[in-house]
Amino acid sequence: MKLTGAFLENMGKRHSVIVGMTRSGKSYLTKHVLQQLQDQGYHTVFFDPKHDDDYASLGTICKTPVQFYHQLLKKNPAIVYRPSPKRDSRVEELNKIAELLFAMSNKDGFKRIKRVVAIDEIQLMVKKGTNDGVETIWTVGAGIGVVGIAITQRIQLLNETCWSQSENKIIFKTDDRPEYLKSRNLEHYTDKREFFLDTQNKYWFYYTTGNGKWRIREPISTSSSSKTYKQPTTTKKSKSKPKPISTLKTVEHFGLKRWDI
Ligand SMILES: Nc1ncnc2c1ncn2[C@@H]1O[C@H](COP(=O)(O)OP(=O)(O)OP(=O)(O)O)[C@@H](O)[C@H]1O
Ligand SMILES: [Mg+2]
Repeated sequence: MKLTGAFLENMGKRHSVIVGMTRSGKSYLTKHVLQQLQDQGYHTVFFDPKHDDDYASLGTICKTPVQFYHQLLKKNPAIVYRPSPKRDSRVEELNKIAELLFAMSNKDGFKRIKRVVAIDEIQLMVKKGTNDGVETIWTVGAGIGVVGIAITQRIQLLNETCWSQSENKIIFKTDDRPEYLKSRNLEHYTDKREFFLDTQNKYWFYYTTGNGKWRIREPISTSSSSKTYKQPTTTKKSKSKPKPISTLKTVEHFGLKRWDI
């Protein structure tokens, strides 16, 4: 089964944020999206401060900006970047990577490459609410074919530019407080919080693609599409049917349109 349609297309063209508590499904979704975008000809970079082996299959692993540059010159379409564990160094490395991507986008023979750069645990790279590389990607990237996916555990940890410049917003279960949700114009998520926190509904998420409409989406399934996916460890639980949305009191507000997969 392939992820196709408007959702994937939007993630290839416009910046995205993916937010959710630990084990909510952010990485699983990101990996699936990047794999499908690679199949559509996008070049992807996964910036992985956690050095997570589950992501190793997403591309050639680079550990320095020089190695990264070398892969860019080779037009390698799938790169995983593992930065230094030291905070200052990884911030610098991300800045350097953003710089190199921008430099490449002006180079003859590279101008047409469409790139998606996903940054896991983005709060680790953002100093005092700002980071030059991140700011540049999220402000001017889309215009030159560089699109970002920012991944983090709480909306509150996200850099303001990432949030405001991301048309695609994907929220798994989160414990951001109602007052905070309101400040981000997400008061409509508050009455759905319990639904997402219910373990029966794990991996469900709430999303918009920037048209003002928010929808609830059932978990993505990768059963027949991906050879590299790790199966859920809690097979028994994940097989249990999610609580039907019709049992929720706010059902009339839920847009249940699904992805086109
Ligand atoms: N849609 C899904 N279907 C089946 N299993 C899933 C799904 N989404 C996530 N999982 C499984 O749940 C576990 C946690 O998911 P994942 O690693 O994506 O969480 P996460 O939000 O990235 O957490 P963290 O913030 O700790 O990195 C993984 O073992 C993953 O394989
Ligand atoms: Mg993760």
